[in-house]
Amino acid sequence: MRKVSLEMVFNHPITQRYLRRSGIAHAVKVAEYAYTFAKEANVDPDLATKAALLHDIGHYKWYRNGEWDFELYKENDIHAIKGANRAHKLLIRIGEDPRNAKQIALAILLHTDSYLPEGQLHLSPLQKVVALADEADEEPSGHHHYKTIDDNSALARIRLLDQRIDRDRDQTAGSA
Ligand SMILES: [Fe+2]
Repeated sequence: MRKVSLEMVFNHPITQRYLRRSGIAHAVKVAEYAYTFAKEANVDPDLATKAALLHDIGHYKWYRNGEWDFELYKENDIHAIKGANRAHKLLIRIGEDPRNAKQIALAILLHTDSYLPEGQLHLSPLQKVVALADEADEEPSGHHHYKTIDDNSALARIRLLDQRIDRDRDQTAGSA
């Protein structure tokens, strides 16, 4: 058994608070994509799904006169930096292995290059999986952030991912 499950991460008040901002439906879908892509790329699905679930917890609401201001957002956004920091703090607090917490935080930091100066990033396989999973659920004009899901189905899908990850780990341990 893993020390920290996806469910523990998902149910934490910090996760709930910030994911309600950026969209729980998007976070759950990206975690599901990350599981599939991680298996294909031979990346640890435990790390990939945690990073995917938390990748947008650094979002700030860029509102001007009650409306989302995309220009203001584009100019000032550092959600990947904030998210990496928040996720790391949260993971350490709930008992995640510090090496895992670092890898997850780095994957969140690099899941988008929209806030970085022009240049080429050389992503690790884990970082690539998380960035691709996010892209796979992206919709024009940020619509993916507004999709809704009820709390019970979100939790059920998170639990299903946990079961799959635990089953994969048992199989790997059994064949070693
Ligand atoms: Fe995202």
